[in-house]
Amino acid sequence: MKVLSAVGARPQFIKAAPVSAALAAAGVQEVLVHSGQHYDHGMSQIFFDELGLRAPDVHLGVGSGSHAEQTAKMLVGFEQVIVRERPDWVLVHGDTNSTLAAALAAAKLQVKIAHNEAGLRSFNRAMPEEHNRVLTDHCSDLLLCPTQSAMEQLAREGIARGVHVVGDVMYDACLRFGALAETRSSVLAQLGLSTKKYLLVTLHRPYTVDSPERLARVLGALGRTGEPVVLPQHPRLLLRLREHGITVGANIKLIDPVGYLDMQQLEKHARLILTDSGGVQKESYFHGVPCVTLRPETEWTETVTAGWNKLVDTDEQAIAQCVRERFWPDARPELFGTGDAAERIVAALQATST
Ligand code: UD1
Ligand code: UDP
Repeated sequence: MKVLSAVGARPQFIKAAPVSAALAAAGVQEVLVHSGQHYDHGMSQIFFDELGLRAPDVHLGVGSGSHAEQTAKMLVGFEQVIVRERPDWVLVHGDTNSTLAAALAAAKLQVKIAHNEAGLRSFNRAMPEEHNRVLTDHCSDLLLCPTQSAMEQLAREGIARGVHVVGDVMYDACLRFGALAETRSSVLAQLGLSTKKYLLVTLHRPYTVDSPERLARVLGALGRTGEPVVLPQHPRLLLRLREHGITVGANIKLIDPVGYLDMQQLEKHARLILTDSGGVQKESYFHGVPCVTLRPETEWTETVTAGWNKLVDTDEQAIAQCVRERFWPDARPELFGTGDAAERIVAALQATST
């Protein structure tokens, strides 16, 4: 069996790492293709280095652009590699433009597609990721769901064949690299942070950062907390802060994006996490750190139902209240599998190939 794994954006390197290791352990041939969607060292190479993900076999070097421009270039690039490599499977992760482009290229060439993180929905079609998820799921042969509710969503859309609940590979990564983060990372000392005495924030969704009003509202609310806030800046946020001419309060430490190990340390030791990221919402749950989601909705509804994630959109009063008052319960049920999602993915690929 030969699997072509498509990656391109930051969260995909993290998702691909445990799967790539499990494929190698099972003796499955993998061709790793990087679209080039993310390319800064701190958004790409650092994850290969830290997570032991081997260098991509092919780098498409597509870079940034409008949705159409970026997706179209990737579509052409992935098609050429698929034609050349003739894999049995194209494996895609998540919901980025790289995900959709690789899936679409495979579908047109009648190569089977496996989608890791299938069945997630925000039901918000203004999000570029929502189109990517729906379209990818509907052309996939193997739908690898992190949760039961993702499987139920696919059933509601009439997709029942090839669906497996495998757990979440980000939980696998968090378990495997947690101890390493504790020994290798010195980010808390470097930034002068004390455990449970700061807020960790990430912002990168177009909904939050492309709107000067929303961005200023969130940063204003964070400034007024007076608590130390650490904010690793996604390049989209950096661009928008400059464009909108927005400055931040003295309590907010804007830093460059950090690697995976530093990020796990920052998450684990934060008092509270505020974010519009999908992956960071889940990781805060893994680490047992309450999360405030700066969006009107989330795909990771289980974390909200469990009481550990609060949806506040960009409302200043609601943000202030979450920072002030405890909103989470003691219980934190296991929602994302048992840390062997990557092995289950490989098993599903193997079982479906025979
Ligand atoms: C993308 C994904 C989003 C995911 C996020 C993870 C899509 C539509 N969006 O959003 O689902 O949550 O990645 O981080 O696929 N840039 C750099 N250096 C880089 C990469 C990007 O400076 O290495 C800048 C460019 O100006 C670029 C902008 O960031 O135009 C946005 O990058 P892009 O990959 O288009 O979207 P993200 O916001 O990163
Ligand atoms: N992350 C990181 N460094 C950072 C910010 C995020 O390593 O400075 C990691 C984070 O721990 C998680 C993933 O990137 O594993 C989430 O990616 P992102 O927020 O970019 O995208 P999303 O999950 O929203 O698609």
